[in-house]
Amino acid sequence: MYTQALDIPSPDRDDAARGGPRSLAEQQRDAAYEAEFDARVARGEFVEAKDWMPEGYRKTLVRQISQHAHSEIVGMLPEGNWITRAPTLKRKAILLAKVQDEGGHGMYLYAAAETLGVARDDLVDALHSGKAKYSSIFNYPTLNWADIGVIGWLVDGAAIMNQIPLCRCSYGPYARAMIRICKEESFHQRQGYDLLLTMMKGTADQRAMVQDAVDRWWWPSLMMFGPHDKDSVHSGDSIKWGIKRISNDDLRQKFVDATVPQAKLLGISLPDPDLRFNEERGERGHWDFGTIDWSEFRNVVNGHGQCNRERLADRVQAWEDGAWVREAALAHAEKQRRRDRLAA
Ligand SMILES: [Fe+2]
Ligand SMILES: [Fe+2]
Repeated sequence: MYTQALDIPSPDRDDAARGGPRSLAEQQRDAAYEAEFDARVARGEFVEAKDWMPEGYRKTLVRQISQHAHSEIVGMLPEGNWITRAPTLKRKAILLAKVQDEGGHGMYLYAAAETLGVARDDLVDALHSGKAKYSSIFNYPTLNWADIGVIGWLVDGAAIMNQIPLCRCSYGPYARAMIRICKEESFHQRQGYDLLLTMMKGTADQRAMVQDAVDRWWWPSLMMFGPHDKDSVHSGDSIKWGIKRISNDDLRQKFVDATVPQAKLLGISLPDPDLRFNEERGERGHWDFGTIDWSEFRNVVNGHGQCNRERLADRVQAWEDGAWVREAALAHAEKQRRRDRLAA
């Protein structure tokens, strides 16, 4: 699950992070490295973990990949909430597999972040202490079974739109993790849509549940693409460095254009009176949509959404409950190492 990195300015970027003033020779050397780095990125080559990279590039990636990893892990909670209440064995098996996939995505991504020289424990600490951000979409509650379908259709759908360009991101370990993740996300999206199609063929009450879930998730899904381009603090650097390929507003428009026909096929309405097809825009036209309530977005990002506290408390609890597993795995690895040493 991925939403645009939350562009929160950090005061220690770039120069300050290098540890104070540098000599002229050091500055000239870094300028030469940077020119070479820019040229490689412009040629579309991958940057690998051991390559020289500007400190701002490294920090941007650490922030983005760790936020992405945290979002995968926290994203297990709203859906995990329904595993015990899935209406059939088939739906339970699908949901279990989906939530497990999200946990796996988190693991690939923590591993990708570690290649940039950060410790996984520090990243997890930052999440648990509330310092690190994760996608705000997971601070909304899942109130009825249709929410599970709508999360697959809209939330995973928006994530895919965000993630496909990341398969071509300039940082090799991140791009490779994204290729694998995207394959699984497309299954997530389709299982959600299939669930909703089934409910729409059911009773009037089931159709009403789908409409209610769509009404609650539509606008938060559009917010997943992040602030408008003009308000996006780090986008310029990210585009220059080949981390970001398509702007927030362009991705959001692609998502709306792809989703409106799917909503029609489903037979539900989207909660936006300003939604209309505009033939004049672009070669094939686009769907115009209403104004996003960014005050709601900021409120949730700043910790005041409906479930922020609950999500964080559940994560900390799960981490503490799992301490014995980590200790047992470490003890086992140590025993194995001792045996190998004796055998050698
Ligand atoms: Fe995911
Ligand atoms: Fe997913």
